[in-house]
Amino acid sequence: MTLLLLPGDGIGPEVTAEARRVAERIAPDLAIETRLFGGAAYEAEGAPLADETLAVAKAAKAVLMGAVGGPQFAAAPRHLRPEAGLLALRAGMGVFANLRPALCFPALARASTLKPEVVEGLDLMIVRELTGGVYFGQPRGVETLPDGRRRGVDTQVYTTDEIERVARVAFELARGRRNKVTSAEKSNVMETGLLWRETVTALHARDYADVALEHILADNAAMQLVKAPRQFDVLLTDNLFGDLLSDEAAQLTGSLGMLPSAALGAPGTPGLYEPIHGSAPDIAGLGLANPLGAILSLAMAFRWSLGRPDLADRIETAVGRALDGGARTRDLGGDLTTAEMGAAVLDAL
Ligand code: IPM
Ligand code: MG
Repeated sequence: MTLLLLPGDGIGPEVTAEARRVAERIAPDLAIETRLFGGAAYEAEGAPLADETLAVAKAAKAVLMGAVGGPQFAAAPRHLRPEAGLLALRAGMGVFANLRPALCFPALARASTLKPEVVEGLDLMIVRELTGGVYFGQPRGVETLPDGRRRGVDTQVYTTDEIERVARVAFELARGRRNKVTSAEKSNVMETGLLWRETVTALHARDYADVALEHILADNAAMQLVKAPRQFDVLLTDNLFGDLLSDEAAQLTGSLGMLPSAALGAPGTPGLYEPIHGSAPDIAGLGLANPLGAILSLAMAFRWSLGRPDLADRIETAVGRALDGGARTRDLGGDLTTAEMGAAVLDAL
């Protein structure tokens, strides 16, 4: 088995089904296996990520995930929630560098809530640290104090090696793009932010002096993203800021439903690919979801894990053609169903 599909919850099964059709068309010999994941796995197997599923994921070349979560799982204990399964999968696979491109397809410049002249030609890459920071830091939890008040704790923590390895990915990517890295943190108030800035600066001086490096405070980055997003090439940031800034960047492109992502670990280990949208329980099962984020995630898998950048190019070109031809799901202002959008991409292939 080469590609593990984890459809997950909500619209996940619908959008990954379209990605699967594209994979079967373009690479008929690719061995694909499917497993339950997230809330679906919790209901059927008692845990959002079975040990065996993690083992299969680590043995695959690439893992393509749909989405996890839903209101029906809100009452489950935190460690059994779908999101806990996703964090365990990321940590278990060791995929520390999350690539989240925000590319504005020419046909969609008008679908953005921002003025077309601001987003036209947008092509930025967010590199989000994915297996550290406040998502995983200890201690964490909610305790009851002797006087009856409750106290919640999360811990933001980074070590130099965690910062360096993800920064390296950002610099390497920049060299193949417009050669600029903008590193976002809160060094004005956070100790981890200061360490982040110092570590990135030192690595840059040591190994990447040929790449332009800028530092920006994360709140300013949020503002600059809507003010002048094309100033960014590679935007490097931590786990939590990356979560926020990538949702914001996604909206610049017209729809959250469009955006793929790749999570990469050490060379030679499998990558984890997922559209950055959530499970969208409100439209799950209705055939309204946009499958392009999932299909473009498959393209990233061909590029970064399956050794077939040529197939990645073909898929991305086909998506652009389908959009040029007017194919639009509801989030883009059209009325195509999920399967019809998938079919439009297959036609363009
Ligand atoms: C994302 C999501 C996840 C995250 C959730 C579902 C745990 O928002 O991939 O951006 O916060 O990382
Ligand atoms: Mg998010």
